[in-house]
Amino acid sequence: MRAIVLDGKALAAQRRVSLAARVERLEKTHGRPPALSVILVGEDPASEVYVRNKHLACEKAGIRSAVHTLPADTPRETLREAVESINADASVDGLLVQLPLPEGLDPAEVREWIAPEKDVDGLHPDNVGRLASGAPRFVPCTPLGCLRLLEHHDIATRGRRAVVVGRSLIVGRPMATLLSTKGIDATVTIAHSRSGDLAAICREAEILVVAAGRPEMVRADWVRPGAAVVDVGIHRVEDRSRPRGFRLCGDVHPEVAEVAGAFTPVPGGVGPMTIAMLLENTVDGFERRVGGR
Ligand code: GUN
Repeated sequence: MRAIVLDGKALAAQRRVSLAARVERLEKTHGRPPALSVILVGEDPASEVYVRNKHLACEKAGIRSAVHTLPADTPRETLREAVESINADASVDGLLVQLPLPEGLDPAEVREWIAPEKDVDGLHPDNVGRLASGAPRFVPCTPLGCLRLLEHHDIATRGRRAVVVGRSLIVGRPMATLLSTKGIDATVTIAHSRSGDLAAICREAEILVVAAGRPEMVRADWVRPGAAVVDVGIHRVEDRSRPRGFRLCGDVHPEVAEVAGAFTPVPGGVGPMTIAMLLENTVDGFERRVGGR
C-alpha cells in the first residue's frame, strides 16, 4: 500500500487562506491588523532566509511585520532594551527572537525577557508551564504544526504508541507534551542522542516524530510498517549532481516512504506548517490582547 503524504505545504496554504479572512475581519473590528516583530541578531544565513520567509508570510496574510536586525556583537543589555521596547509597544502582538543567537548571548535568559502575552514561540517558562499543566497559551509553532498535520489527515493517536526523537525545548519536549495531552491521548516515549538502541525504540512507534538534527538518521528498518513518520529535520547536504551543488534532506531517509503508512516530505512537510502556526499564534495573541484576556 502506498504511504499517505502529509503535505504540509498544501495544508499551510489552506490554513493561511482562512487566516487571511480572519485577519481582515479583525482589522475591520479593531482598526488595526495583528502585528509581529522579529529580532534577528547577527548574520546566520539560514536564519536570514527563515526570517525573510516569516516576514513575507505575514504580509500575505495581512499581518503587519517588522524585522529588527542587530549586529552579532550586540551587547546583552542592548538586546534586552530592544525586547523590552517591543514588550511595551501596545501595537505589537507577537515577538520572537530568532534562534540560534550569536555566541555570548544566552537564549535561556533572552526568552525570559519576552512578555509571555507576546511570546509567539511559546518558550517563556510561563508558557512552557502552561502547556505542561494542560492550560496552554502559546504552543511552540513546530510541534503545533506537526499535530495539525496529523489531525488533518485523521492519523489516530488515542492509545497509540508515539516516539519523539529529540528533547529540545522548542520541538521535542512540547511535542511529547502535546501528544500525551487529554484528547490526543498517545502513550509517549522521548528518545534522544543518549538513548540506547534508538532503532529498537523507534520501531515501537505507531507515530514517530524525529527532531534529532542528524541528516537521514532514521532508516527503513527503524520504522514499524504502517507508522506515521513526521520529519522535523531540514539539512543542506552537498550534492554535486544538483545545479546548486546541494540538496535538502530531513532526519529521515527517503527509503522510509516504502515502509511508513504516512510521512512528511522534506521540504514541504513540517517547515511550511511552522510558519503557518506562527501566523496563527500571532493572531490568537492579538485576539487575546484586544479581548483583554
Ligand atoms: N530558529 C529556527 N526555528 C525557530 C523558531 O521556531 N523560533 C525561533 N525563535 N527561532 C528559530
